Amino acid sequence: MSADQSGSVPHSVAAVIVLAAGGGTRMKSERSKLLHEVAGRSLLSYAVQTARHVRPERLMVVVGQMKEQVVPALASMDAGIETAEQAAPRGTGDATSCGLRGLGDIDGDVVVTMGDVPLLQGQTLIDLIDTHRQAGAGMTILTAEVPDPHGYGRIVRDDRGVCGIVEERDASPHQREIREINSGIYVFDAGLLRDGLASLTAGNVQGELYLTDVVAYARGIGRVVATQTLADTIQTEGVNTRVDLAAMNREANQRLCEKWMLAGVTILDPANTWLHDSVDLAPDVTILPGTHLYGATSVARGATIGPDTTLVDCEVGEDATVVRAHGQLATIGPGASVGPYSYMRPGTILEQGAKVGAFVETKNAHVGVGAKVPHLTYCGDAEIGEGANIGAGTIFANYDGVGKYKTTVGAHSFVGSDSVLVAPVDIAPGSYVAAGSTVTAPVGPGELAVARGKQRNITGWVDRKRAGTKTQAAAHESATGEEA
Ligand code: UD1
Ligand code: CA
Repeated sequence: MSADQSGSVPHSVAAVIVLAAGGGTRMKSERSKLLHEVAGRSLLSYAVQTARHVRPERLMVVVGQMKEQVVPALASMDAGIETAEQAAPRGTGDATSCGLRGLGDIDGDVVVTMGDVPLLQGQTLIDLIDTHRQAGAGMTILTAEVPDPHGYGRIVRDDRGVCGIVEERDASPHQREIREINSGIYVFDAGLLRDGLASLTAGNVQGELYLTDVVAYARGIGRVVATQTLADTIQTEGVNTRVDLAAMNREANQRLCEKWMLAGVTILDPANTWLHDSVDLAPDVTILPGTHLYGATSVARGATIGPDTTLVDCEVGEDATVVRAHGQLATIGPGASVGPYSYMRPGTILEQGAKVGAFVETKNAHVGVGAKVPHLTYCGDAEIGEGANIGAGTIFANYDGVGKYKTTVGAHSFVGSDSVLVAPVDIAPGSYVAAGSTVTAPVGPGELAVARGKQRNITGWVDRKRAGTKTQAAAHESATGEEA
């Protein structure tokens, strides 16, 4: 196939129908199962992404239970998704009928997938479609050989090939021994699917319309039923419980870590590193154990993150280091140094070579090139110039109980330890603030601001008030050189 005249990519199938009408009772959640997340995005978003991979002309999602959550979620993912409603959960056959009806009078290949199978890869569907076409099949089933087939539909074969799929509950003891399972993912010829669905009856233990019974219909009219067996069985696994969700997250995370390691990222302990699907890492990044990188976080070449660091929607520049820190919506410039024990809140921007050290909290703070906020500081609503130094224990008092105000510290200025900078206030470039000052008025260029009580020493106080103590003895020895 070649691109059409408009230059767009040709469609490979007429439609994909994603079954997503089940609520997921076993999740015991007020949230639809399909909106629970694996590696930072919903199960449903994986189903949509995988469906998009085969470039369907139409993408139809069958919704039902908790549709008031599912429909808006779909709308926010992709404008081209159609939905059909299944009024009651009458089985996978009924759900597929709802989807097919919504598609009208289509013909060609129709892929059916499920909303709760997040690790299915687009390439697997493309291979399934190829198998289907090469076999000239009426339907093609994606199957897997699993060690524990419990709960799945089993593929029943005779000397002519697949003759049926039997559900766990409907299976004979002999059939339950079969380890080849139905993944619930198929390619159908649209005409066969339409006729096959019309032929279904609910003559089974659950009293449902089973999509799987289309196999018997196809065989009955002499159409080929093909299969493709997938070795990577986790791709076919669905999420039913939160135990499954945890297992799927572990697996998805392992796969993401492997992807990044193969792309040149050192991950010391993949089992203790958690990455969202959306993060972006450059080669020669090093990730130490206990690191969580979430959302739109990106890390540039040569940077080292961790141990024990969580970054959400952060940008980390080349060769920066971030140790035992928590950051959200922060930008950490090239060569900047963060931690240990630092908390960067939204709007934190560290320029090249800047430093945010131990027990420092920043919010809406712009720290200039090479500027340092090394110890025990709250730095909110701040503009700190190049090369400035903020002493240990400095507080940027940005909040007066009503509004928030900004503090500016100019380039190469020096704020002494234990100062309080009461916003709004400007400390000019090239100025000093004496340690322990409470600064409420502007400080001009070249000035030293001293804003604290002047020291006075009261002679003989210890002799008068602490007679007979070790302190008095030490004072005596220190003053006279003789032991008391
Ligand atoms: C189904 C298959 C089984 C297969 C298994 C793979 C049938 C009869 N059985 O069983 O052979 O091994 O999947 O995971 O098809 N759904 C609806 N409406 C309904 C019922 C289900 O939309 O009325 C959707 C669910 O939201 C889910 C999917 O269909 O996404 C599968 O439903 P589920 O009830 O989990 O099917 P299984 O019993 O697991
Ligand atoms: Ca299932």
